[in-house]
Amino acid sequence: MLNPIKTITRELTKDFIEFWRHITQPGVIHSKDTIIFANDAFLALFGHQRPEDILGRHMGEFISPWPADNPRLGWRSAMGRRGNAPNLDIEITCLPLLAGDNILYQSLIRNVSEIRSWEDKLLQAERLTAMGRLAGEIAHEINNPLGGILLYANLIREELPQENQAYGNVGKIIKLATRCRIIAKGLLNFGKSSSKSYAPVDLNQVIKEMYSLIEGHHVLRNVDTKMRLKKELPHFMGDKGQIEQVVLNLIINAGEAMDGKGNLVVETDYLEEQRAVCLIVKDTGPGISGENLQRIFEPFFTTKRPGKGTGLGLSITHGIVQRHGGKITVESEPGKGTCFEVKISVSGG
Ligand SMILES: Nc1ncnc2c1ncn2[C@@H]1O[C@H](COP(=O)(O)OP(=O)(O)OP(=O)(O)O)[C@@H](O)[C@H]1O
Ligand SMILES: [Mg+2]
Repeated sequence: MLNPIKTITRELTKDFIEFWRHITQPGVIHSKDTIIFANDAFLALFGHQRPEDILGRHMGEFISPWPADNPRLGWRSAMGRRGNAPNLDIEITCLPLLAGDNILYQSLIRNVSEIRSWEDKLLQAERLTAMGRLAGEIAHEINNPLGGILLYANLIREELPQENQAYGNVGKIIKLATRCRIIAKGLLNFGKSSSKSYAPVDLNQVIKEMYSLIEGHHVLRNVDTKMRLKKELPHFMGDKGQIEQVVLNLIINAGEAMDGKGNLVVETDYLEEQRAVCLIVKDTGPGISGENLQRIFEPFFTTKRPGKGTGLGLSITHGIVQRHGGKITVESEPGKGTCFEVKISVSGG
């Protein structure tokens, strides 16, 4: 008996098949639900090499959902199944095709997985931007009443004799409120980081300010931090807000990599020969594999679970360092921790 697929295929002219073979978009010709012809792009998309591997198979093995009755004509979104590989987000356009007495169908597939994942990431980045703006606004609202609290606490303290127990307590209020003010100020400046004004930047000062902003953060709670800040470090011309972002990104990445426990070294130095200041952030976290190391500065590259990281931190950091005429390098090996080094020239990049 003749193979029914071959009988139907004979009804399709050679030219027609040849035309389909050369379409670069994945395409498939099928009866109600049996595959009769698939072009190379379709084979590649679903991880097959030879047409024999998929001819005669049910469309539902590749496209989900696949209707039990007649194929759904026109355009729709669906999922592409690829054996053990992750599923694909696809769009499928199905049109009828007369072949002799038979009605066949031709379906073109568009793989939109990458577009979808970029859309998700952009959405996440937008959400973070909105949160950043909100944090700036809240910081602004908190900053003013805090100023009032500090003013009145200072007035009360002035009127108290030093041996009074309340004197010490008011002192504590002042200390804590001052700390809140530093945090609020840090958030405010962070929101202003896009300003293009270059002025002399004291890297040590930036590190101290940023560290006081995040030392209570859970990613640093059980981290033993050593600051080795070079005395009399020369200032360089830069955008302080942006440099703050670099310091924050590197320290938070280190804390997150160590999962809140380990040793962190934040070091600054002056390199006489290169006339450059240098920032080193070194952690005892799990390190980065060679494969990932090549990608960490790519926008949206992240190994953190969805919703946790945007993968923008290091790409923004890289951009900022470059705009300052500097260089950022990284040394890391799995199991041996990670060391980021930023160098910025003090004689203007
Ligand atoms: N100190 C580090 N130790 C180990 N891996 C790191 C370290 N810093 C960065 N990485 C790796 O580089 C990836 C990219 O970092 P990046 O800061 O750009 O994004 P992220 O931290 O994942 O997300 P976001 O910064 O938006 O929270 C991280 O997901 C992580 O895999
Ligand atoms: Mg990060």
